[in-house]
Amino acid sequence: MKIDSELINEIRNKVDIVEIISSYLPLTTRGKNYFGVCPFHDDHSPSMSVSKEKQIYTCFSCGATGNVFNFIQDYEHITFVEAVKKCADMCGIDLKIKTSSDDKIIKKYKTIYDIYEISQKFYQNNINSSLGKKAKEYLYSRSLTDLEIKHFDIGLSLNENDMLVKLLKQKKFTDKDLLKSGLANANENDIYDVYRNRIMFPLHDLVGHVIGYNGRAYDDETTNRYVNSKETDLFKKRDFLYNYHRAKESARSKKQIIIMEGPMDVIRAYTIGIENVVATLGTSFSASQSNLIRRLSDNVILCFDGDAAGLKATKLAITELGKVGILPKIVLIPDNADPDEYIKNNGSEAFQNLLNKAIDIMEFKTILLKKETNLNSPEGVANYVKAMISEINKIDDDILKEVTINRLVDETKVSKDVIMSKLDNKKKELVITPKKKQTKKNKYEKSVQCLIYYMLYNEEVIKMYDRKITHIKDDNYRHLAFQISAFYKKHGYIKVADLLSEVDDVNTTKTIGSIVALELKDDYTKEEIDDYLNNIKEFNDLEKIDKYKSELAQANDINEKIQLANKLIAYKLRSEEND
Ligand code: UTP
Ligand code: MN
Repeated sequence: MKIDSELINEIRNKVDIVEIISSYLPLTTRGKNYFGVCPFHDDHSPSMSVSKEKQIYTCFSCGATGNVFNFIQDYEHITFVEAVKKCADMCGIDLKIKTSSDDKIIKKYKTIYDIYEISQKFYQNNINSSLGKKAKEYLYSRSLTDLEIKHFDIGLSLNENDMLVKLLKQKKFTDKDLLKSGLANANENDIYDVYRNRIMFPLHDLVGHVIGYNGRAYDDETTNRYVNSKETDLFKKRDFLYNYHRAKESARSKKQIIIMEGPMDVIRAYTIGIENVVATLGTSFSASQSNLIRRLSDNVILCFDGDAAGLKATKLAITELGKVGILPKIVLIPDNADPDEYIKNNGSEAFQNLLNKAIDIMEFKTILLKKETNLNSPEGVANYVKAMISEINKIDDDILKEVTINRLVDETKVSKDVIMSKLDNKKKELVITPKKKQTKKNKYEKSVQCLIYYMLYNEEVIKMYDRKITHIKDDNYRHLAFQISAFYKKHGYIKVADLLSEVDDVNTTKTIGSIVALELKDDYTKEEIDDYLNNIKEFNDLEKIDKYKSELAQANDINEKIQLANKLIAYKLRSEEND
């Protein structure tokens, strides 16, 4: 669903961020800003400042930044569009009159939503009728009760060709609608039900519409144990997590989200009061699932099956979550069991113990490496230590690094000094950097920050940047400068609070927060801006010179050497001009 960006900005203009945030948490005034306890990290003193003038909030402790919509979105764990709607609602702005494009989208999908709603009622009726006796007995035999069957809306497709199709046709849905919904297939003559004689676990979207099914066979003859719904405009497996809409409240209050493989695992967890659980429906894990998880909590526990497939899924999820800055904890379930079986056989307390003992990703890697090496031989230990050092070099988190090093020392009795000497040490590099280069680097960084700061508030500066576009090395700053310029081109003005509506990656948002927090003086001169642009250019030239120098040192071919030397001279001349 999409709301026109003009309308989003119009709504944002009509509301006051101070009023809205005040309705969520108490704010106190200090100077011209308002302060509150930040709800996005474990805050004890008010670290979040809300600016009435800029209509944005920033937390100087965790870096959370945004406009009124971003606040509602992150606080409520809803999508941006939902947050805009909620905000409009809170302020009595009627969106319906204006969101023609939005309405069209709702209309476009309304048929599929309706079909799924009808199918769900139908399947639920079936399981509760006399035809559902065997299916219910199967579920009872797996220790589920009517309570879970109802709570998870579990249903039954009947052992006939076209039960659902017939029902939906009676309700005047066309063949085309039915095929598009993914609940019907076609042969040369007719269309027929996709699902026959399966226990139906409904799949819901983020807010709770049914958009698909996980259908499980409940006799021994059927070969495909599970059949997932076909992908439709509304159901894409890679964008989906089972139980998300039910888990979000609990994940938020417990500040933790657990990820499992299948519906049965989630349902079993529910029977022992654990509700902050979602499932991936198998062993794949996508980037967009990482983003969904991040919206719930960054305290993530992976609890996949204890078999080889589960291990593979765990590795993949660690990689994907790592890309969005999450270091999950891992539960390894013993004896190849899955959470469903483990809980059923060992009870709530035993499972709770497993959760409490969840290991970090480095312990997980240790376990994997140990499986491959023989720690009884000196060579084995050496290989193991080397492999662990290469893993340690890959992590950014200083604390996890330190903990892992200490563990490795304890375990292998290789001295800490030796291990430390083998680690990539970024700090060491900085010391080697010549002082001149270092001060130039500081000057460069400061220039980038100041340039972007003034771009955020002044059209004139954006125009200067556009005319004299220079490459900005740092990804976050470069993307931000680019987005400011793009925003200005699109809307013809610049306002931080509106820009934040269009920024959809956390890094850029946080960068905006850090730039705004610089609180530079309001006025600037064109000469100052020119200086910033020149400093950036000069630093780029220096970098180029260094690059050509090292290429020159390595070049073998004489023609190549000459070419590089010429480039180098040209750059040197230019950068000296600027000095
Ligand atoms: P599992 O094979 O672990 O199933 O797959 P399970 O949850 O233990 O199933 P039960 O206990 O036999 O009923 C985990 C999940 O992966 C999806 C299903 O959603 C399943 O719940 N899956 C698995 C499929 O979609 N297709 C398959 O062929 C297998
Ligand atoms: Mn399983």
